[in-house]
Amino acid sequence: MTSASGATKLWGGRFSGETDPLMEAFNESIHFDRRMYAADIRGSQAYAKALCKQGILTADEQQALDSGLTAVLAEWQAGTFELRSGDEDIHTANERRLGELVGSVAGKLHTGRSRNDQVATDMRLWLRDEVNALLGFLRELVGALVHRAEADIDVLMPGYTHLQRAQPIRWSHFLLSYAFWFQQDAQRLEQFLPRVAQLPLGSGALAGNPFQVDREWLAQELGFSSVTPNSLYGTSDRDFVAEFLFHCSLTMIHISRLAEDLIIYSTAEFGFVQLADAYSTGSSLMPQKKNPDSLELLRGKSGRVFGDMSGFMMTYKGLPSTYNKDMQEDKEPMFDAVDTLTGSLQITTAVIATLKVNAGKMKQSLTGDMLATDLAEYLVRKGVPFRQTHHISGAAVKMAEDRGCQISDLSVADLKTLHEAFEDDVLLVWNFEKSVDNRSSIGGTSRVTVQGQIEHLKLWLN
Ligand code: ARG
Repeated sequence: MTSASGATKLWGGRFSGETDPLMEAFNESIHFDRRMYAADIRGSQAYAKALCKQGILTADEQQALDSGLTAVLAEWQAGTFELRSGDEDIHTANERRLGELVGSVAGKLHTGRSRNDQVATDMRLWLRDEVNALLGFLRELVGALVHRAEADIDVLMPGYTHLQRAQPIRWSHFLLSYAFWFQQDAQRLEQFLPRVAQLPLGSGALAGNPFQVDREWLAQELGFSSVTPNSLYGTSDRDFVAEFLFHCSLTMIHISRLAEDLIIYSTAEFGFVQLADAYSTGSSLMPQKKNPDSLELLRGKSGRVFGDMSGFMMTYKGLPSTYNKDMQEDKEPMFDAVDTLTGSLQITTAVIATLKVNAGKMKQSLTGDMLATDLAEYLVRKGVPFRQTHHISGAAVKMAEDRGCQISDLSVADLKTLHEAFEDDVLLVWNFEKSVDNRSSIGGTSRVTVQGQIEHLKLWLN
């Protein structure tokens, strides 16, 4: 773009000097905010109607603006919209093109409006649609997890704390733990929607609208649930961006943790799962390698989205009331977070749906010592206080370790030397299925409670 003299710019009346081309490039936001072209046009069409209601535009003028704006929209959609030098942002570009198409009446559109209330409106309109799309992707991911959990309900695996084998669990129980995280992410986004759908339009540059435009009518026209109740707040608020970036960061953290679990489970040492070829890559040097790149990227991109949030927060802090150009830096992190989360949710869903599960390897990894807690619980049922049973079971673990055998190989006579309450039925403890099914309070690993979790999520999905 060549430098344009101030006088040719939409805001150029008071300028006589040229803008340094470097400054022009530094200042423009069109190369990224063009993605909001449809929201910008929708907002303008609604605003023209509101001006018409106030008698600022005649019905004919409003009609001319409306069809002109529809023509501009069509150009964007067809990819034929041509940017000109001086198209600083999406707002000025659309208005410039509207003027070329409909003539001087285009100059009436911005009456009482500022790019300050316009940009805040565009962002909220744009983000609302994206949040709804993200909600769809979150539901698909929960659906994939639930589907797998249902199909694999018989598969048992070691559950971990501190990444050390702890107690047997169902593989489904593990999958569903993430499904509940993602369900919460979706619920948070749903609760966020009414906060996005507050209309700033009609706040002017900062001090409000002098033509008494009916802001509540505008809100209805644009499908917003309320109007911002203070024009300074309306133009300078970007909390909705900060909140959205937090929601994205938290969802990415859930994705990252799931990815980390699956990376560990897919190593040869664990061998619990195998990633489909479609989501892995090879090594350029080592022919045998199959790397979980999809999972590593998911884990890595969580850092990127967190960076979008923290970067934006640093920009946002310390701004004086109301609009400051710093705020132009709000859009790229918002766009990047939307794109990154959209891609990540889709890849996660596909990885889960195509994952191969090695139930045999999971079962082999279940060792008798993982039932030491069950042994203690056996004594509890015989009336021995838990604190005591914990010690007794610990002694049994040690006895097995000293003998180089599994705890389940100890005879009833061996166990009786540790406590007289042990009887023949202690042998029934050495059963992983039973251990898992014993935990049948809500939220536990039993078949019935896991099925309950599946039903709960299915109900929510429908
Ligand atoms: N491109 C600007 C932004 O993204 C639009 C608002 C400009 N307002 C202004 N007073 N210069 O923030």
